[in-house]
Amino acid sequence: MTDKKLKLVVSTGAGISAESGISTFRDADGLWENYPVMEVASADGFRRNPALVHQFYNARRADLGTKKPNAAHLLLKELEKYYDVQVITQNVDDLHERAGSSNILHLHGELTKVRALDDEFKTFKVDYATATTPDTVMDGHHVRPHIVFFQEAVPNFEPATALAAEADIFVIIGTSLVVYPAAALLHYVRKGTPIYYIDPNPSTIPEGVTLIRKKATEGMAELARILIEKATEK
Ligand code: OAD
Repeated sequence: MTDKKLKLVVSTGAGISAESGISTFRDADGLWENYPVMEVASADGFRRNPALVHQFYNARRADLGTKKPNAAHLLLKELEKYYDVQVITQNVDDLHERAGSSNILHLHGELTKVRALDDEFKTFKVDYATATTPDTVMDGHHVRPHIVFFQEAVPNFEPATALAAEADIFVIIGTSLVVYPAAALLHYVRKGTPIYYIDPNPSTIPEGVTLIRKKATEGMAELARILIEKATEK
């Protein structure tokens, strides 16, 4: 293929990692049913009890070390043969990275990093077994999870909107579309751009979107066939 590849922008949420064994947030038995969200994942919660917040994300990080990317993550990498693929993820796991995707933008942070409390741009890579506390010091800085807490701004949202606006095809996988601003990304897609949404149990079906009501692995297998056919039919 000598033609320039079309730009495929993919917005993923917790549902893409569900079949890897990582809990989603709002499904039955999801994380927010078992943990008080405003205690473990908000800016106020962190001020009140930082040790609890460190503990929560230490446990998520340790759990992540035992998980692997699934066929949906791997198919997104495979699609790079046919498309200029850009992943925008709300997930804090690293399963897109481990599947080999080349272009990944994290909207809500990353479990495998912590950052300086006094400098939001100073991040430190940590391994899955690392457990931090409010007393942990790295390179002279106290650190916090590199996670966007509720009540905090989402610094990567603006670059994400620019990417969405460049999409020739936009795909949404496994997000309830209830957390803003991430849920608004699809509104930045140019008019007339095809939008596919893979989710077995969507809370809302935005207008004009083609729903594939399947789990991520099955839905991606179906969509990859469609997209590869589209890319190779010329
Ligand atoms: P949610 O837990 O809100 O939604 C998960 C979505 O995945 C639901 O729509 C499910 O139907 C769908 N789902 C479940 N199993 C699936 C599967 N096997 N394949 C495909 N889809 C499946 O998770 P998010 O929308 O990602 O933020 O949540 C958004 C944000 O809320 C998270 O990034 C997190 C959370 O609070 C922060 O903590 C900052």
